[in-house]
Parts: sequence; C-alpha cells; structure tokens
Amino acid sequence: MTIPHSTLITGIGELVTNDGGEWTAIADAALVIEGDVVAWTGPAARAPAADSAVDAGGRAVLPGFVDSHAHLIFAGERSAEFAARMAGRPYQAGGILTTVAATRAATDAALRANLRRLAAEMLRQGTTTFECKSGYGLTVGDEARGLALAAEITPEATYLGAHVVPPEFAGDVSGYVDLVRGPMLDACAPHARWIDVFCEDGAFGADEAAAVLAAGRARGLGTRIHANQLGPGPGVRVAAEAGAASADHCTYLSDKDLDTIVSAPLVATLLPGAEFGTRHPYPDARRLLDAGATVALATDCNPGSSFTSSMAFCIALAVRDMRMTTQEAVWAATAGGARALRRADVGHLGVGARADLVLLDAPSHAYLAYRPGVPLIAAVWQAGRLAAGEVS
Ligand code: NIG
Ligand code: FE
Repeated sequence: MTIPHSTLITGIGELVTNDGGEWTAIADAALVIEGDVVAWTGPAARAPAADSAVDAGGRAVLPGFVDSHAHLIFAGERSAEFAARMAGRPYQAGGILTTVAATRAATDAALRANLRRLAAEMLRQGTTTFECKSGYGLTVGDEARGLALAAEITPEATYLGAHVVPPEFAGDVSGYVDLVRGPMLDACAPHARWIDVFCEDGAFGADEAAAVLAAGRARGLGTRIHANQLGPGPGVRVAAEAGAASADHCTYLSDKDLDTIVSAPLVATLLPGAEFGTRHPYPDARRLLDAGATVALATDCNPGSSFTSSMAFCIALAVRDMRMTTQEAVWAATAGGARALRRADVGHLGVGARADLVLLDAPSHAYLAYRPGVPLIAAVWQAGRLAAGEVS
C-alpha cells in the first residue's frame, strides 16, 4: 500500500475551516493535506510533521470557492447590450436569444474552448467547484452537446432546456415544454446531475416550470430553479414543491416566499453580479439571514446579465450592498455553495474534506471585501494539488 504524500501548510494567519458546517476560523494555524484530502487542522504550534512544508507567512487560507450557479456553455458576447443598460435601457430576458443564435452556430471546438477558458479563469480566482448550466442551445442536439462538454470538466452539470422559448416555438410554449421534458430530457439526462427552469414572466410560468422539474426528477435529476429574479412570482413555491436544493436569485420575495425558503428548506442562492449588471435592486440578504435561511453566493456567470467569474467580486457586493458580514459572505461563497449543490466534501476544510483551498495575499478573509477588485488569490489547491498560482 502506498502512503499518500503529505504537505504541511503552516504560518497561516487565519485559517477558515467552516468545520462542522458553521463559520469557523483558527488564528496562527496549520493544515495538513494528505493525498487529496485535509488530514489535520489546528494551531501551528501543534502541527504534526509531513513530507513537505509550505510557509503561508501569516496569510489567510480559506476553502476553495463553490460557485453553484453559472452559465458557461455559450458563444458570442453582449457587451453592447450591457452598455445600453448602463445608459438606461432595462434588462430583458429576450436577450438570451442573441446568445442562443451564436451558440447554435458555434463549433464544438469553439464552445469547448470558451468553456475551458472560463473554467480556468474561475480556478485562478479561487473557485474549485462550479456548477454549469446549458440553456443557450434549446434544441435536442445543442442542449445535449453543451452538457456533454460541461460534464467533461464538472460533475455539476445542469440541464436548463427551459431557459426561454426558442423562436421556432414562438406562440407554442406547451409544445416546447413537451420537447424539454420529453426527447430533450432523454438526450440530456445522461450528462447532467441537475435540472433547472427559468420561472419568470417572459420565460416559463408555474405550471410549466413544475412540469419540467417533475420530469427531471423522475429521471433522477436533482432540481433547482431561477426564481423571483426580475419580479415577484411563483418560483420559490414551485421550487419547494419540487424538492429543489436551491432557489436562485430571490431578488423579489414576498413574506410567504421567505417562510417557504426557511421551512422547505431551500438554500437561497443570491447572485449579486446579476443585479450589478441589470441595475435591479440587490436581494435582501439580511432579511433572509435574519429569518434563518441558508444563503449561498454565486456568480451567475453568463454573457447577458452577469459576465463575472469572480466570487471575490460577489463577496464584496454582498458585504457592501447586501449587508452581509464578511464572515457570512465568505461562508455563503464556500459552505453555502456546497449546500446549494448538496455536496458534503467541499466548501469546508474539516478533516476528510477535499483539499480545495485558497491562499490569500492578505491576513484575513475580510480583505476580499476590504480590497475589492484586487487580485488577492495567491495560490489555489484543488484535491490536494497546487492548481494555480504559487506559494512564495
Ligand atoms: O441567470 N435568468 C436567466 N438566465 C440568466 C441570464 C441569461 C442571459 O441574459 O443570457 C440569469 O441571469
Ligand atoms: Fe442564472
């Protein structure tokens, strides 16, 4: 039997572990990686020996970010639409169709290259687990090929055939829903872990969303939803009834929605990059947290509403504009994302967790919001391997 290589990271000014599921941080800490998992954490003075050692020099170490909501399978870009919004034009879900046309026209190689470029961009910024949705293909073939590409690089691939109704089904929503929950689901389910629906005026209503999620569930997919993003609506209720892991966006919530999120329970995944990019108001994170909800933060990375891959940017927005504490925001971007994906092995650095960690060029997690826009990610380990940056 081979004993896995072990690495001691010592001299950690602040080690955020989220051990036991709650926010937990240790000062003057050390951590031992053995193979691909965390083998030990504690005060540096009590650290055991290991095969090799790294000195963090007083800097902070956090769990790798878990970005539980991203749309990375697309071609083209919509910077002109963004510029027009910043000049006062409203966001419209219909902009999605611009990306659908570009995505359908793209080769497999071009889609794969764009997806991998964005995944690498995420990794360099400390994201060690990400979810990736389809939803810009909207034909059986285009949705299936997108998900097959996503499944090459993440186990968290999500089938979002019900993103919007494509032009060839204009006026025939029920015909398109039948395709999404029939032949398209058959082609996509083998590549996906999750199914999602954009439940919103201009996209899919409550009954349609429920039908799509039920079909996915019957095929063994976990459920999640785009809910209450652009206005009040039934999304949260539909999510709860479908046994969803997460209701995402949650920008416009009634008191009843809030109760539903807490009692279902649903993780409320907040995506402040989308409010930044559409000028909608930020979701009321404080209201959710004070009611006892579990909150996750994710990027929503997509070419329309939120073209950021930076979890640090989302943390800074959440702290500055959504009244989350720095601890709540970092927890939501790590352990919260893991809850939203029902993953026990990531989002924390308890013993046995996957050794996904981020070394900050800063002494504490708070710097992620305190120094917004500054590239503070010095090094990233993924499953025990130094995957980006360097330790020096
Ligand atoms: O999460 N809400 C639906 N989908 C994306 C936007 C996609 C786009 O505009 O291309 C979102 O914001
Ligand atoms: Fe989204």
